[in-house]
This record gives sequence, structure tokens and C-alpha cells, in this order.
Amino acid sequence: MFVLIWSALFVSVKGSIADTGLKLLLYCASAWGQQHCVGRYCVTLSERELTAEAGLCVVIPCSFTTADEFTPKHTIWYKCETSQTRCSDDEIIFHSNKNTDKKAQPGFEGRVSRLEPDVSQKNCSIIINDLKESDSGSYQLRVTGELNGKQDGLTFIQRVTVSVKGLNQKPTVMIPTLTEGQQATLTCTAPGLCSGSVPEITWTWRGAGGTESYITGNSTDFKTENLTAFTQRHISTFTFNPSAEHHDTSVTCNINFTGGESTEKTLTVNVNHKKEITISGVTTVKEGDVLNLTCSVESFPPSLIEWSKFGSDTNLHSYSGSARLVIENVKPEHSGQHICAVTYMNNTLKKDVSITVISACVKHCGSYSTVLPWIVAGVSLTLNAFCIIYIWFLWNSRKKVNLPQEERTYMSLQKVDVSSDYDVIAQHIN
Ligand SMILES: *[C@@H]1O[C@H](CO)[C@@H](O)[C@H](O)[C@H]1NC(C)=O
Ligand SMILES: *[C@@H]1O[C@H](CO)[C@@H](O)[C@H](O)[C@H]1NC(C)=O
Ligand SMILES: *[C@@H]1O[C@H](CO)[C@@H](O)[C@H](O)[C@H]1NC(C)=O
Ligand SMILES: *[C@@H]1O[C@H](CO)[C@@H](O)[C@H](O)[C@H]1NC(C)=O
Ligand SMILES: *[C@@H]1O[C@H](CO)[C@@H](O)[C@H](O)[C@H]1NC(C)=O
Ligand SMILES: *[C@@H]1O[C@H](CO)[C@@H](O)[C@H](O)[C@H]1NC(C)=O
Repeated sequence: MFVLIWSALFVSVKGSIADTGLKLLLYCASAWGQQHCVGRYCVTLSERELTAEAGLCVVIPCSFTTADEFTPKHTIWYKCETSQTRCSDDEIIFHSNKNTDKKAQPGFEGRVSRLEPDVSQKNCSIIINDLKESDSGSYQLRVTGELNGKQDGLTFIQRVTVSVKGLNQKPTVMIPTLTEGQQATLTCTAPGLCSGSVPEITWTWRGAGGTESYITGNSTDFKTENLTAFTQRHISTFTFNPSAEHHDTSVTCNINFTGGESTEKTLTVNVNHKKEITISGVTTVKEGDVLNLTCSVESFPPSLIEWSKFGSDTNLHSYSGSARLVIENVKPEHSGQHICAVTYMNNTLKKDVSITVISACVKHCGSYSTVLPWIVAGVSLTLNAFCIIYIWFLWNSRKKVNLPQEERTYMSLQKVDVSSDYDVIAQHIN
């Protein structure tokens, strides 16, 4: 503590603010733990130790108070070794006076901005953009101004330690629900809300085979949103027309910051799609054999597939993606329409298939229904045969009657009964 007080005294003297030793006693080491005063000159560094990531930025929050007689004009920030009580002029990283010959080190030029340009606000906060790991170190503030009409200044011994680590934050990639044929936009937002250089955002696609490819018809757009004067958001959008081929591929958003720091995020792309329903297998089977049909549909999300037989309510099988209809020992009653119903995203589509079961009834025709046609055929054949024989018989008997005229008359006269035979004779006479 004594070392601190003495160094504070030393700095304040070196800073040529002529405060009395009495006032030094007012040195308040911990008003709220962050405020540190030398007399009526106080600095509040709410964060004594800050961590940040390379490529991004860091804000050093800072405010100060001075004696009423002192009019602050400029703020100067330095970065130097902690062992040095006071950083030297060639270690300036920011000087609010652009007209001074005390310039910021080239490595920091343009990277440091004060958040409040009005010094009378006594707000000494700065933002350091495009951070590099070499920016790690301790930062010190000096306020210059006028005291009773004379140039004066004070360097505060309290410092802020910044440690810059490698970039760890990932971009934020937003993928909406993708549906085949419906144009969609993917969004990639760079990490960090800074005001430094604009990063480069690139998109790459990787197919199932690991091959890098670009999707045809793609278009990218880049925009920077100004959130506040010192915070910007960098967004890249990628618009394309999703199709089934894009399903299960991966998309990578790469962010390349100034200084070579890069970060990326890869996501798997799912595209809602459904292809044609296909039914494979043999549809004509012999009785007693195995009926084995597969109904399948490639879709995302997977479809529910059900087999049913026309005219029966019972579903035979129900699977996801592909359903097999297996009937061992097929019976004639299995023939007919079988329906494969595919339910995809609450919509049901049906495809039917006609099954023919060939009867194996050759040796033992147990079933009446299969024997009946044979009986019908047999009976009709027999009847036909009888008819033919009868006609032939009639023909022959008529041939016998067909005798010479005299004989016919004789035959008729021989008949005792006078019947229609007379008509026959009469006809012949006519
Ligand atoms: C300093 O100014 C910035 C920007 O106006 C503001 O965000 C911050 O809160 C101020 N800090 C203090 C300590 O007043
Ligand atoms: C798709 O994007 C890549 C990379 O940005 C580009 O090389 C390619 O030409 C683009 N394709 C079309 C069709 O715009
Ligand atoms: C954002 O701010 C920068 C300067 O700070 C300016 O050049 C740019 O036009 C602004 N962009 C928008 C969209 O307001
Ligand atoms: C990132 O930028 C550096 C330098 O600008 C370049 O060498 C590198 O190829 C870039 N990387 C990507 C992925 O664009
Ligand atoms: C049905 O056919 C598939 C191939 O199409 C085969 O893998 C499966 O073993 C068959 N099932 C039966 C019970 O024969
Ligand atoms: C399907 O229908 C159910 C109930 O009607 C509903 O909650 C669900 O969101 C629907 N799903 C789709 C993909 O439309």
C-alpha cells in the first residue's frame, strides 16, 4: 500500500499537478473497489482485467473526475510493461489530439477510438478493434488540460490489463426449414460487435462424398448493421433453391477477420422432400409360395408406410421408409388389390398393386369353386355330343323315308291310321 501511495505521489508530481501532501491522505484505495484517486483526481476503471479474442475488439470502460480548477482537454492511452510506473510517449496507442506530434504507434493507428468524443463528459472509455494477441498488456490513461490557465496533466497509475486470446467464438448460422422447390435463405452472422474492419464471409458446401461444391443458382449478400456508433453486426445471407440433392449435405460459413484470424461453423442441411412410391417384387405367385412385396419411398422426414388389402380393414404391415408385405403360403383369397399407403407430412398417398395367385389345384381339387368350371365344361361337352348323335340319327332316318314316289304312296296307304302322313303326300302332289 505504501509503495502504491508513494508511486501515486511520484506520478502526480511528475504529472505536475501540484496537489499538497495533505490531499494525498485522501487517496482512496477502494471507494467502490474501482475508483482510485490522487487528491481530487480520480479514475474509475470498472474492469481491471479484461479478456478478449483476436480478430474481435475490447472496450475499456473508464471515467475520471478532476479538481474543479482543472479543465480536461485530451485523453491519452498508453500500453507498456507493468514494471514501468509510467509509460513513455513512444508507447502511446491513442491520443485524442490529432494535432499533436505525439502520435499513436503505427500498429494501433486507426484501431482505437474513444466512445465519448466530448472530453468534458470525463468519459475516457476506448474501444480497440481488430485485436491481435500481441495487444495483450497493461493500458494506462493520461488526462491533459489546463489548470489555472497553464498546461497540465495527470497520468493515473491504475491500469487495465487486457489479455487477448485466440479466436474461439463461432459464427451464428441460421437455417430455416428447407423444403424442396421453395427458395430459402441461410444467414451467417459474424461473432463480436465491433467497429473494426469488415470481415470476409464465405460459404462452402460439402456433399455426401466430401467433395466441395457450389450449388447452382446460389447468391450471397453481405450487410453491416450499425447497432450503435461503435458496434456493428456483419451478416451474410445465402439464397438458393433447395432440392433433394442438397439433403444431408453440409454447409460451412467461414469468417475471415483482418489479421488472418478466421472462424467457421458447419451445419448439416436437411431438405424436406419426397420421391416417388415404388413397389418391387413379383405380383404373380403360385398358391403355397411366398408373396414378397416391398413398398418404399425416399423422403425426409421419413414417411409412414402401411400395406392393406382392398376390402379389408386390417393393415398388414407398418414401417417407416420402406415396408415389406410378406405372405408365406399364399392362398387364392390373397389375390386382388393390395394397397400401399404412404403418409408424409400429414398427407397420405396410395399406390395399389394387383396380386394374382395361380391355383396349384391339379392333383387334389379340394375346392368346389375350382372344380365347378370343369363340371360345366364336361356336361356341356356331353350334351353337345348327344345332340350331334341325335341330329345324325334324324338325318339318317329321313334318308330312309326319301323313297321313289310310288313306293312312298304305297307306304302311306299301308298305314291304317289316316293322319298327318296324308299331308305329306298332299304336299308332294302339289
Ligand atoms: C462512456 O460513453 C459511452 C458511449 O457514450 C457509454 O456507453 C458509457 O456508458 C460511458 N461510460 C461512463 C462510465 O459514463
Ligand atoms: C455459387 O457460389 C460460388 C462461390 O461464391 C461461385 O463460385 C459460383 O459461381 C456460384 N454459382 C452460381 C451459379 O452463382
Ligand atoms: C454505418 O456506419 C458507417 C460509419 O460508421 C457508415 O459509413 C455506414 O453508412 C453506416 N451504415 C448504415 C447502414 O447506416
Ligand atoms: C483469409 O484471409 C487471408 C489473408 O487475407 C488469406 O490468406 C486466407 O486465404 C483467407 N482465408 C479464407 C478462408 O478466405
Ligand atoms: C423378400 O425379398 C427381399 C429382397 O427383395 C429379401 O431380402 C427378403 O429376404 C425376402 N423375404 C422373404 C421372406 O422371402
Ligand atoms: C400434422 O397434423 C397434426 C395434427 O393435426 C399437427 O399438429 C402437425 O403440426 C401436422 N404436421 C405437419 C407436418 O403438418
